[in-house]
Amino acid sequence: MNNFTFHNPTIIHFGQGQISAISQAIPADAKVLVTYGGGSIKTNGVYEQVVEALSGHEWGEFSGIEPNPQYDTLMQAVQKVKQEGYNYVLAVGGGSVVDGSKFIVAAAEFDGNPWDILAQGAALQTALPLGCVLTLPATGSESNAGSVVSKGNDKLFFFSPLVQPAFAVLDPQVTLSLSARQVSNGVVDAFVHVMEQYVTFPVNAKVQDRFAEGLLATLMEEGPKALSTPQDLKVRSNIMWSATQALNGLIGVGVPQDWATHMIGHEITGHYGVDHARTLSIVLPAVLKFKTPQKQAKLAQFAERVLGMQAGSDEQKASQAIAKIEAFFQSMEVPTRLSDVDLGADNIDTLINSLQQHGREQLGEHGDIDIATSRKILELAC
Ligand code: NZQ
Ligand code: ZN
Repeated sequence: MNNFTFHNPTIIHFGQGQISAISQAIPADAKVLVTYGGGSIKTNGVYEQVVEALSGHEWGEFSGIEPNPQYDTLMQAVQKVKQEGYNYVLAVGGGSVVDGSKFIVAAAEFDGNPWDILAQGAALQTALPLGCVLTLPATGSESNAGSVVSKGNDKLFFFSPLVQPAFAVLDPQVTLSLSARQVSNGVVDAFVHVMEQYVTFPVNAKVQDRFAEGLLATLMEEGPKALSTPQDLKVRSNIMWSATQALNGLIGVGVPQDWATHMIGHEITGHYGVDHARTLSIVLPAVLKFKTPQKQAKLAQFAERVLGMQAGSDEQKASQAIAKIEAFFQSMEVPTRLSDVDLGADNIDTLINSLQQHGREQLGEHGDIDIATSRKILELAC
């Protein structure tokens, strides 16, 4: 296991009715900007609960943050923060609203061109405080320091501990209004987050491995149930907590990580608008197939411990594990090939050029997924 320092400061308020906790979680003298997306919170009772909880606060709102939040929209919110003097942001929505709000709290205090935060990885000196009410379990953004923002075809990200939410409300009840598509997307995104921190090579990190295996088993068990029995709150609760744990830093400490699937997937969303999770279900199987020799030991461990396969060689277990992962994705009704989303060989040059332009030339846990390898992975994903 490698050395690490771990600190996750986000306070989690989990369970039904916990939106009321924001009245205490946000300082009484804060002037709060509530940020949200296209309006789902207005039809599922979340907005009313937030308004009730903020009855003792001074607050205003900014709506219209899109899925894959857009830089230009977020800059309008930054202008509002500055003009109207907000000093606290409360994000209410899915990963896009939380990510967008992370950018808002950073850009509002940034001395320079805010685009540099994304394009140059410019360091932040300060940011406004942020809290969130998560309505879509998927990204882990509610308790991590990352944010993904888009401008045109560029889907870029930044990290800063300064933008990590001070608190996150996770009420599984509010996820009952999600469409089947968004439920699937969330489960698959969380599953792939765990895989990318787990299916690398063994470093004798027993705790991280077993936590990861617990999350993978839970998501494979509960994901299909969330589609077949969509009103089951117990299922949603387990999915919601799994998705948070999948990317709150805990399982990733001290272990090698491979974010190639995400980096290639971001290009597919950036150019063709495919939902984030659906890019991952297309790219991950191809990455695992192409890199099986290097990932074989962990794939076999996954096959044994999560899938219960005991028979066969490591090589056989690894290939059966990949087949099971594809079958799991299919049971979650997400695509597993570029052709499933009407893309194919003709689109690969565009994706490869964009990877190159974004400097994604040393991906994977060994840094050996170069541009030529990414091309082969995309060819395998056709
Ligand atoms: O905008 P509204 O009207 O709220 O509708 C949203 C949106 O259309 C809807 N929705 C959310 N909660 C709902 C609901 N509809 C009904 N009931 C609810 N309770 O769902 C749609 C999708 O929302 P979005 O926030 O875009 O989805 P998700 O949470 O999957 O976030 C995806 C974004 O997060 C980034 C992705 O790249 C993408 O931009 N990621 C962020 C990460 C991070 N910060 O750590 C890591 C991830 O790997 C990912 O890259
Ligand atoms: Zn993701």
